[in-house]
This record gives sequence, structure tokens and C-alpha cells, in this order.
Amino acid sequence: MNRRRFIANSAAIASLAALPSQGRAALAAISATQAPLPYAPEALEPHIDAATMKLHHGKHHATYVTKLNEALVAAKLPADNIVALLGNLSQAPADQQSALRNHGGGHVNHTWFWNWMAPAGTGPAEPQGPLAEALQANFGSLADFKKAFGDAATKRFGSGWAWLIVKGDGKLAITTTANQDNPLMKGVVPDAELGTPILGLDVWEHAYYLKYQNKRPDYIGAWWNVVNWKSVADGLAASKA
Ligand SMILES: [Fe+2]
Repeated sequence: MNRRRFIANSAAIASLAALPSQGRAALAAISATQAPLPYAPEALEPHIDAATMKLHHGKHHATYVTKLNEALVAAKLPADNIVALLGNLSQAPADQQSALRNHGGGHVNHTWFWNWMAPAGTGPAEPQGPLAEALQANFGSLADFKKAFGDAATKRFGSGWAWLIVKGDGKLAITTTANQDNPLMKGVVPDAELGTPILGLDVWEHAYYLKYQNKRPDYIGAWWNVVNWKSVADGLAASKA
């Protein structure tokens, strides 16, 4: 590597370390390597079917990881913290920003998503403690939260995600993003959508079409049975740290 390129790379890497403050404490680094599913593909049955999980993790998510790594090589950026990279996309080389946004977002969003689910019955069926209190304070009740989140997820046009986020002021909010964008993407999504994600739902058709066909509301309704409330509570606690 020549000296000029080394200096340019060092500056890019240093700038990517400057994560927006609302994400720094809450969000662990995710490298550009795909982890195995934290449960068997059939473990979320009957709510999410094994065939969907195998395709979703083994093909869709895996392809995002492959293409993300190609973009990182082309951009000469490190592969150790894609969460930080997504908060600073504008600092990445212009010709790779689109690929990093789509495939980096796809990798991080899905990595979170697998961990925001768990086999039904393995954790609390409903939010407990500070998470329950925060949902009540921000949305009125758990039922009101689920209704608002489900409505937002249903109305997200085309492919995208619905999110529960912790805003910069500590309040919870529901938002949605298109494609593989997420609420960390400062300068990409509107400021009103920025925050620390503590729960997200994939509403791309690849997440539900095999079992639910066009009935996205049925998928959303079933998904609540496999939400990992412990993981959501941990995310909320980390966002306050
Ligand atoms: Fe997906």
C-alpha cells in the first residue's frame, strides 16, 4: 500500500469510529461475518416456518453478507464494525455507499432480527419490568403498542422494516424504513426516524410469503408469539447505560 492510500484509509477508518451518540452505548459491533441462527430453523414453528427460515437466513441474509464483503474490499474499509459504518455512510467512498447501505443494512438488520425472536415459551410471554413500564408510558398499554406497531408494519409500502426505537431524548417511538435502511442511518433516513433500534420486524415478502402469501397482517399477528422480550428489554437497558 502506498503512503497516500494508507493515509486515506486511516482517515476513513477513523471517521467511521465516530458513531452517533444515541447508538454508541447501546449497540454492539457486528462484523461482516454471518453467525449461525441462534435456534434451529424449525424452532419458531408454527408461527414462522422452517422453510422460510432456511431460505431467509441461508440465502437472503447470506447474500447480503457476501455482497457487503465485496463492497468493503472495494471501499478499502474494515469489516469489524458494520453498525458503526451504517451511522457514517456519508464518510465511505461515494461509489460504494449504495452497496454498503443495502448490504450492510441487510446484514445488520437480519443479525438483530434473529436475536429479537425466540421459540415460543422460552422467555417471558409479555414484556416485564422497565420495558413493560416504558411501553405503557409511551403507548398507553402493551395492546396499544402492538396495535400501533402492527399498523405501521402493515402500511409500510413494499419492502422494508418496522422498528421500535429509543430516541435521543430517551422516549420510545415506532417508525418504519424502506428496503434495508434502519434508524441508525444518519443522513440517509429522515432525522425523525433516527434512534436506537430495540425491536424490528422484517416485512419483505421473503420473510413471510411461503407461509402467509400476501397476508402480511397474519404474519405480523403470528410473529408476536416469537418475539424475544428478554432481548428487547436488554436493548432498552443498554440504551440507557
Ligand atoms: Fe429479510
